[in-house]
Amino acid sequence: MKSARWAVALTAALVCSSAFAEGNAEAGKIKAYTCYGCHGILNYNNAYPTYHVPKLGGQHPEYIIAALQAYKKGERKHPTMTAQASSLSDQDIADIAAYISKAPELK
Ligand code: HEC
Repeated sequence: MKSARWAVALTAALVCSSAFAEGNAEAGKIKAYTCYGCHGILNYNNAYPTYHVPKLGGQHPEYIIAALQAYKKGERKHPTMTAQASSLSDQDIADIAAYISKAPELK
């Protein structure tokens, strides 16, 4: 199952989490604005073209960081998310993760 692989990645991210910058949720709120276009919509289905978008609200920040870093490095492939993640710095990712993990709008 896909999620099992991600549990491994998450564990790795937790072990070396000191390598990541401390996230600032206030800054993340602004930086996460573009993410709402896809991740903040009802039923988590993009209207057109129709595809499912994973729910982000309430995810652990470590998971969000691990996922975004994986897209950025090309370890996890998805054209849209690779494009999103590759424009983010490590600080952006930490800030966004700090915000998203607590954001009521994305639940
Ligand atoms: C154009 C639509 C779109 C935008 C904009 C977008 N995403 Fe995504 N996102 C997706 C889709 C579709 C997936 C599922 C990709 C896959 O299956 O790997 C995804 C997956 C993710 C995942 C992995 C979730 C999981 O459960 O594994 C994270 C984390 C994520 N996005 C964060 C973000 C952040 C942060 C932003 C803003 C910088 C953002 N996304 C912007 C469409 C989008």
